[in-house]
Amino acid sequence: MKPKVFVSRIIPDQGLELVRQACDAEIWQDEMPPPHEVLLEKIRDKVGLLSLLTDRTDAALLDANPQLRVVSNMAVGYDNIDIKAATERGVPVGNTPGVLTEATADFAFALLMASARNIVQGADYVRAGKWKTWGPKLLLGADLAGATLGLIGFGRIGQAVAQRARGFNMRILYNDLRRVPEAEKTIGASFVDLDTLLKESDFVSIHTDLNAQSRHLFNAATFAKMKRGAILINTARGPIVDQTALYDALRNGHLRAAALDVTDPEPLPMDNPLHTLQNCLIAPHIASATDNTRGKMAEMAARNLIAGINGERLPTCVNPEVYDRK
Ligand code: DGY
Repeated sequence: MKPKVFVSRIIPDQGLELVRQACDAEIWQDEMPPPHEVLLEKIRDKVGLLSLLTDRTDAALLDANPQLRVVSNMAVGYDNIDIKAATERGVPVGNTPGVLTEATADFAFALLMASARNIVQGADYVRAGKWKTWGPKLLLGADLAGATLGLIGFGRIGQAVAQRARGFNMRILYNDLRRVPEAEKTIGASFVDLDTLLKESDFVSIHTDLNAQSRHLFNAATFAKMKRGAILINTARGPIVDQTALYDALRNGHLRAAALDVTDPEPLPMDNPLHTLQNCLIAPHIASATDNTRGKMAEMAARNLIAGINGERLPTCVNPEVYDRK
């Protein structure tokens, strides 16, 4: 008999086929994620969970089934999972690092360019029939060449964004908990403290994970330190930005624009005032959304799941301490 697992949404075939071959899989068919209490019920007779970033995997869920052998998240981020609780219970948690680096960096850069050059506003202007003639001051944007890009977080994705910025002749600064001297040399980026980065950057792009330190890292005080007219890009996690403070900074013109692929919550309710601002571009968390990338993420998540149910070490495990305990 194949081991029973729960897959919390229909994921791309590259992953789903592997799961189906190796497991007796129950796959959640709805477009919306399973409510937490449903997930809790579903997991009771399963040994593995393939989850998405929309599924809260907390101690209650882990306790719903002490037989659970693995949680495999189809995302590089795992702030939806209580890692401490999983580790305490000896449950390995997998994620999907690496395969989404280029797609996410492409999208961060696309947001940067779209907000610098008013691409969405331009398209809306044309569609609304407002385009009457070539205008010498129509929809003027900001230059990239010679501008400074500040990266918050200089891991895989931050470095990939820096590589793109180099091609656009931008000056690149970064701030991270640790320095990456090799990448500084190859990419041509300089490490600076946070205040310097905020003060000197024309564009600030966030590539750090969400944790207690990064929650609301961008708040009223942070925005006040940013250069007047700067543009903020966030493709990491919504709660890193205090959205009320962002609204104020955009509204009073201190920031020129913001482009967010992530919000808090997701989706951002339609009555959120950020939706009223022309200079705030909001995308529906699609930075990794290419056929190829999502296929690879699904495959990686499936391989972690299958390794976990077979009692093997997960190829990409975020809490390898579980193996030391065994
Ligand atoms: C992740 O993987 O963490 C992204 O937010 C979605 O691809």
